[in-house]
Amino acid sequence: MNLLSAVALLGLLLMGTWAQVGPSTTLLSCDSPEAEEAALVAQDYINGQHTHGYKYALNKIEEFKKITKPDGSEVYLMDVELLETKCHVLDPTSVSACPVRPKAEMAVEGDCDVVLSNDAGVFSVVAYKCKSEPEESSEELCVGCTHLIPFNDTNAQNLASASLELFNNKTGNATFALLEIGRLASQVVSGGPKLFAEYAIIETNCTSLDEFCVPLNHTTARHGFCLAEGAGLDVAVDCKIFAVPTTVVDPLTNGSVPALPPVVLHAHTAGPGQTPSIHGLRHHKLLKIHDPSVSGLLSESAESAEVLAEPAAPIVKREVPASEMTVSENPNTNTEPQLLMPLCPGKVKHF
Ligand SMILES: *[C@@H]1O[C@H](CO)[C@@H](O)[C@H](O)[C@H]1NC(C)=O
Ligand SMILES: *[C@@H]1O[C@H](CO)[C@@H](O)[C@H](O)[C@H]1NC(C)=O
Ligand SMILES: *[C@@H]1O[C@H](CO)[C@@H](O)[C@H](O)[C@H]1NC(C)=O
Ligand SMILES: *[C@@H]1O[C@H](CO)[C@@H](O)[C@H](O)[C@H]1NC(C)=O
Ligand SMILES: *[C@@H]1O[C@H](CO)[C@@H](O)[C@H](O)[C@H]1NC(C)=O
Ligand SMILES: *[C@@H]1O[C@H](CO)[C@@H](O)[C@H](O)[C@H]1NC(C)=O
Repeated sequence: MNLLSAVALLGLLLMGTWAQVGPSTTLLSCDSPEAEEAALVAQDYINGQHTHGYKYALNKIEEFKKITKPDGSEVYLMDVELLETKCHVLDPTSVSACPVRPKAEMAVEGDCDVVLSNDAGVFSVVAYKCKSEPEESSEELCVGCTHLIPFNDTNAQNLASASLELFNNKTGNATFALLEIGRLASQVVSGGPKLFAEYAIIETNCTSLDEFCVPLNHTTARHGFCLAEGAGLDVAVDCKIFAVPTTVVDPLTNGSVPALPPVVLHAHTAGPGQTPSIHGLRHHKLLKIHDPSVSGLLSESAESAEVLAEPAAPIVKREVPASEMTVSENPNTNTEPQLLMPLCPGKVKHF
């Protein structure tokens, strides 16, 4: 073999998109089109199940493998990192067009283990398990830093209601009610703290203020999302009212099909309907586990356990070696070879 072909062969080995590690587990490349496709299916599925807070966008594929069961059937396991976007779940903007929230805003990061099936090249999510927590880097109080404050903070709640009143007063012939607080934040600036509130709103049956207003039926009501900020009595608000889509594009045919009724939020962070299991004190958690009946396939390690350490305990950054992720009934198949070039993690999409 001459040098050139030896180099070419080495190149092929290095470029190989998979490596056989045992009779049942195959490590797959996190940068292949197949991995990308599976990850986007996972992203969309998880967003579809997530009916509170913000949409999440794929940032990185951490791990991708195929498990072949003794009966010959195959299942795929993927570990993805998702980042919080600025689009509320009720916002009809597609995830790909939603700006990802910068880490400096204490964005929430989601880590999900996903089990997928592949039927004739089409991936479907079988189960998933997520952990989500805010970026802790700017947790310390410092001048100019923004930090999240609890959903039940009285001053921030007052900002939300005062700013919504301001908005309702401007809209003239419709009145919106607070539906869900997305995030509350505070910034230390010279002259005192500045508060920020982001919240979802729903149209009520009232046309003006000073009436007893009740939210309209979710299927027909208009929804919106507001960004408010206030320092003392100085309050500013900007609300975006979402168009109620009557038709959407069917991705399979590119034809117009009737839109499904908008997602109905299942979490209210305002008022008596608070549900601590699905939102933390300061952020909306991703659904922790979906379809527990197949959760045996999902890691039982600390990898995706919900961290319920708030508000006093520090948030623990995930740092679990891949080898701790149990993926098959046969632990012997977990021995990973020394790879010449790492297959994973895949490329980082945002930061
Ligand atoms: C906010 O909620 C936390 C945890 O439930 C509670 O300890 C705290 O007293 C609440 N604060 C207010 C202002 O209601
Ligand atoms: C609504 O707007 C009117 C006129 O701009 C103002 O006089 C009134 O105080 C406002 N009400 C509230 C609740 O902001
Ligand atoms: C309310 O506002 C909408 C949009 O601005 C307008 O189409 C509608 O005619 C208004 N209704 C009334 C009763 O003023
Ligand atoms: C809105 O609905 C509530 C409950 O049905 C009713 O009490 C209230 O009068 C209604 N308001 C208007 C302006 O129709
Ligand atoms: C909302 O509207 C839908 C469709 O018109 C109807 O099926 C549903 O019962 C309504 N819900 C309520 C609470 O009125
Ligand atoms: C639908 O449109 C997209 C983008 O315009 C295109 O990539 C895709 O091939 C189209 N699909 C069909 C089935 O026509």
